[in-house]
Amino acid sequence: MTICRTIEELRTVARGWRQEGLTVGFVPTMGYLHEGHLSLVDLAARNASRVVLSIYVNPTQFGANEDLSRYPRDFPRDEGLCRRRGVQALFTPDSAAMYAPDHSTWVTEEALTGTLCGRSRPEHFRGVTTVVTKLLNIVQPEIAVFGRKDAQQALVIQRLVRDLDLPVRIIVGPIVRDPDGLALSSRNLYLSADERTRALSISQALREAEDRYARGERDALALRRWVQDRVQAAGGRIDYVDCVCRSTLQPLDRIQGPALLAVAAFFGRTRLIDNAYLG
Ligand code: PAJ
Repeated sequence: MTICRTIEELRTVARGWRQEGLTVGFVPTMGYLHEGHLSLVDLAARNASRVVLSIYVNPTQFGANEDLSRYPRDFPRDEGLCRRRGVQALFTPDSAAMYAPDHSTWVTEEALTGTLCGRSRPEHFRGVTTVVTKLLNIVQPEIAVFGRKDAQQALVIQRLVRDLDLPVRIIVGPIVRDPDGLALSSRNLYLSADERTRALSISQALREAEDRYARGERDALALRRWVQDRVQAAGGRIDYVDCVCRSTLQPLDRIQGPALLAVAAFFGRTRLIDNAYLG
């Protein structure tokens, strides 16, 4: 595995592969890797002959009161996980390399980023779409893999790639969970044992909502209330529980086609997100 700390190093490695006719699969991350990230590495390896994983805690997608400074980092551990999982190049640029002091160009998506996480994190998606565009331009992969855990992010990236004709195919992998149902997240590290137990209410409530949907419930408000009540009863502070159209992310009254039931809630200071596909 090659470790590339500069854009030029990464470009040289990727150029060499392309000259050999090898295809490149790319997994962008912010590090503190877990099985959710590594499942995306497997997916990339099944769809390309070389895998690049980036670790970059992108400052522009964090709000002023968010957890940028305390975002968990453990490079030696991440490096070992990447090696063992068969990543061929690990790209870890520093912020000086990624953003010029007078950086002034942004990529924004304007239809899908006003709802769900975009409402409570107004600057977030501008940071994501900008950094992902930059990373795709640096790595120039044939495919890039994202997780459905961040369902809105994955949809926004697919829209970005379509609208700007970026020459990459986006693959979206399923949510990886702990055996008890908690969706894996680097932020789970922040949870106390008690908060973690209470946070299980999110995935449990989503499972129950899926069951109710399977038994014929189509009232979006009823399903939202169900989830909201359960998470609140467990002591979670709701950011949102929304049931939206899976392609437009617009709120639904009745579920008539593919829908996304999405949750963001705080347990202690930790904001967790999870979601379920309905239909
Ligand atoms: P990060 O939160 O590190 O996540 C990197 C990728 O892993 C994302 O595509 C995310 O959806 C996926 N992922 C996280 N938890 C997962 C889980 N439990 N199961 C499956 N996939 C999971 O998302 C980001 O970083 C950043 O916004 C980034 C795209 C790197 C841009 O900075």
